This record gives sequence, C-alpha cells and structure tokens, in this order.
Amino acid sequence: MKGILLAGGSGTRLRPLTGVVSKQILPVYNKPMVYYPLSVLMLAGIRDILVISSPAHTESFRNLLGDGSDLGLRLDYAEQKEPNGIAEAFLIGADHIGTDDVALILGDNIFHGHGFSELLRTTAARLDGCALFGYPVKDPWRYGVAELDADRRLAALAEKPREPRSNIAVTGLYMYDHTVVQLAQDLIPSDRGELEITDINKAYLEQGRAHLAELGRGFVWLDMGTHDSLLEAGQYVQMLEQRQGIRIGCVEEVAYLKGYITAEQCHRLGRERAGTDYGDYLVNLAEEGGALSRTVGASSSPRTT
Ligand code: G1P
Repeated sequence: MKGILLAGGSGTRLRPLTGVVSKQILPVYNKPMVYYPLSVLMLAGIRDILVISSPAHTESFRNLLGDGSDLGLRLDYAEQKEPNGIAEAFLIGADHIGTDDVALILGDNIFHGHGFSELLRTTAARLDGCALFGYPVKDPWRYGVAELDADRRLAALAEKPREPRSNIAVTGLYMYDHTVVQLAQDLIPSDRGELEITDINKAYLEQGRAHLAELGRGFVWLDMGTHDSLLEAGQYVQMLEQRQGIRIGCVEEVAYLKGYITAEQCHRLGRERAGTDYGDYLVNLAEEGGALSRTVGASSSPRTT
C-alpha cells in the first residue's frame, strides 16, 4: 500500500502563525505537526509516501524530512497549486499510486489509542474498495458525517451537514484501492469549487464497497485547525508523554520498532539530537533495544501513533 500525506492549504485560521510557516510544520509540543500523521502511515506498514503541500512550503518539508532514508522510508514531494480540495491528491498522486492501494492522511490529524496499529494493519490487509475511520464528536457539523444502519454498517455520508444524522465524524485517514484515481478524475467540483473527499467516499458507498471502522471511547482523534485546538493537542501530547515516559508520533521510534532502521541508525538519530530529551529518548531506545518502550506499551496504552 502506498501513502499520501496531504499538507496543503494556507492555514488561514491559524494566522499569524502561518504567515511564513506551513501549518503542518508548526510545533505540537515537542515535534512538528506532520510527524503525527506520518507516524500513522508508518504504523500501517507504509514506507512509500508522497508528501503534498503548497508551492510555498514544499521546500520546508523536503528540508525537514529529506528523502526518508533516515527513517527507512521513501519520501517524494509534490505541490498542490491551489486549495482545490482533498480529493485532488489522487490526481496529483496518480503516478505514485499506479495500481496499488493507497492510504491518504491529512497532515493536521492526530490519532492515538490502544490497538490502533493492529486496526491499521488489519484494515489495510482486508481492504475492499474504501475504508474510513469514524469517531464520535459533539460537533459533527464541522466534519464529514457517517450514518450507520442498525447493524452499525455504513449507510450514508454527508459533508458538513447542517443537521447531522449522527455524531460520527469521518476522520482524516482514508484507505482506497487504485480505482480512486479514476473516481477522482470523474469527480465534479462541489459548490465550494472543491474536489470533495466525501464525494469519493459516496461513490464507493454506491458500489457497496465503503466500510467504516469505529474508533471508540478511550481513543483520541484530534485535528488542529484553530489556535485552541493546536494548543490542546500540544497539551495532550505533553501530558501523556510526561505521565508515561513514552513518545507519541515519534517517527524515529516507529521506524526502529517496525524494523525500518537498525539500532545503530536509531542511536545515530538520537546523537544528532543530543542535548534534548528527544535525543536522549532515542539513544536510550536504541541501547535498551526498545525493551522499556515495549513494557510500557504492553501494560497500559500503546506507545505511539
Ligand atoms: C476534511 C473533510 C471532512 C473530514 C475532515 C477530517 O474537512 O472534508 O470530511 O471530516 O477533513 O479532519 P476540513 O478539515 O478540510 O474542513
């Protein structure tokens, strides 16, 4: 399965923070925002990833993440010239996808919860058309909304409905087979002039090939579109990392624990960040062989998203 990380948009709601910096590079506690969604793709076992951002910021992402080899990944970069909607990612990434399945994640989404890695792996392995991830929220009108039938199967979808028919938001993580490219090519822009991801999902639903996995109570999904939600996400990460002594969204750790890089490589990445808790954590991880991290993960909530 290929990956696409969409980090476009102009971050207008986060001005003046986004005056010269991409929203998805802003700090969420101790790491750039993009680390969190990137770690999700990595946990799903995806190593070939296209990062799409606006022309003004592509170079920043390239400087931050490079070609991915430090993390045992292959990272490529592409530009979304105008904010023409999330589904444009499949047109920009058509060659990258080819005939493979693809997971798309939005660059401002954080996922964290027990059993998430397993859910990602099984969902990717059993993919039949389209897989969505639903999460209960108190303000569903701000999101794509999923309506479920009596058996809790996906029955209908609506984008930011004024009168939502459920409280299940469709999160910013999507998995598709390669026919998503053709569907995106055939898509008609919405009233907002955008290629809507919800219209893609509706097309799969009409084919009977859209499925929704529910992320239940105890799971955390955050998106960071406003100053308050950005700060709250940072506080959440800080609280959990300080309480448990673990890291959330630590891409170097995920690379090591997934076997994408060796202990030596992990150690080097830690030394390159010497003098920070972050660097010390990676050095310790490499020296302990992940033993500490694994114990923590097994006895309470998972280590990372
Ligand atoms: C987008 C999608 C929406 C989804 C949300 C998740 O909305 O259009 O369906 O629920 O991402 O973050 P946006 O955040 O671009 O307004």
